[in-house]
Amino acid sequence: MKIHNSKSSLESTLLPFKKNKNSIGFVPTMGALHKGHLSLVKKALKENDCVVVSVFINPTQFDNPADLEKYPRTLENDLILLNSISEKIIVFSPVASELYSQNISSKSYVFSGIEQEMEGKHRAGHFDGVGTVLNLLFKAVTPSKAYFGEKDFQQLLIVKELVKIERLPVNIIGCPIVREKNGLAMSSRNKRLSKEEFEKAALIYGVLMKVKEKFHNLSFENLNKLVEDEFKKSDFFTLEYFEIANSSTLKTDVVKLKNIKYRAFIACFIGGVRLIDNMALN
Ligand code: PAJ
Repeated sequence: MKIHNSKSSLESTLLPFKKNKNSIGFVPTMGALHKGHLSLVKKALKENDCVVVSVFINPTQFDNPADLEKYPRTLENDLILLNSISEKIIVFSPVASELYSQNISSKSYVFSGIEQEMEGKHRAGHFDGVGTVLNLLFKAVTPSKAYFGEKDFQQLLIVKELVKIERLPVNIIGCPIVREKNGLAMSSRNKRLSKEEFEKAALIYGVLMKVKEKFHNLSFENLNKLVEDEFKKSDFFTLEYFEIANSSTLKTDVVKLKNIKYRAFIACFIGGVRLIDNMALN
């Protein structure tokens, strides 16, 4: 397996693929890989002639320095996992000054208003950082297709807007959420949970399933109340937000509208760890 730290060495490895007009699949990650990431890599391997996985903890998308500091760094293990799937994977793992060429800061983006909702509201500058780093990564990797998890559903919509704004010739592919046995969405942040917290965190999936079951019978107001009540009962969690939103615009409606696909979105803290999840409702 080839590991590149610089844009120029990645470019030379990709050159023969480009000359042969081979398709390049790309999976951007921040490492601490788990089965959720690997599901994206496996799909990319099936659908492309070569696959690049980036492992880069992007400083500009963290609004909280402590969160950046505590983000798990497990490169050695990540490489073992990737190699166990395919030795053909090309890994790109630059340092920040290499990727950003010294100017480690975000561009300012307007992603059709999607950046104003949920994660955008609660994590200042987060999507500017995500947009900036992905623009740089897409330019370095020049992928035909790039793979993103629905786990970060808002991010997936933002990336679709980004490629329009930056006119990048890449197809953005959304992939389903991979879950633990107890329903908890897999996440690099789960590594920071104690055994007890990990077990309790099944509540998030349980609540989303309940909302899905009752979606057709209850109003938005009562569905919101149901979730708030569930969280009030638990000492373990602090609910940051729960929203049922239009899955294209991420805006909320007062009453259910016909022919609109809705999705439930949740962010909460368990101990010091922030977890997000979402689920299609209809
Ligand atoms: P990271 O959190 O490492 O996630 C990388 C990709 O894996 C994202 O597309 C994410 O949605 C997907 N993913 C994570 N957990 C998943 C799960 N349980 N099931 C399915 N897919 C899952 O998202 C980022 O990194 C960064 O913001 C990045 C896009 C790399 C930009 O820095």
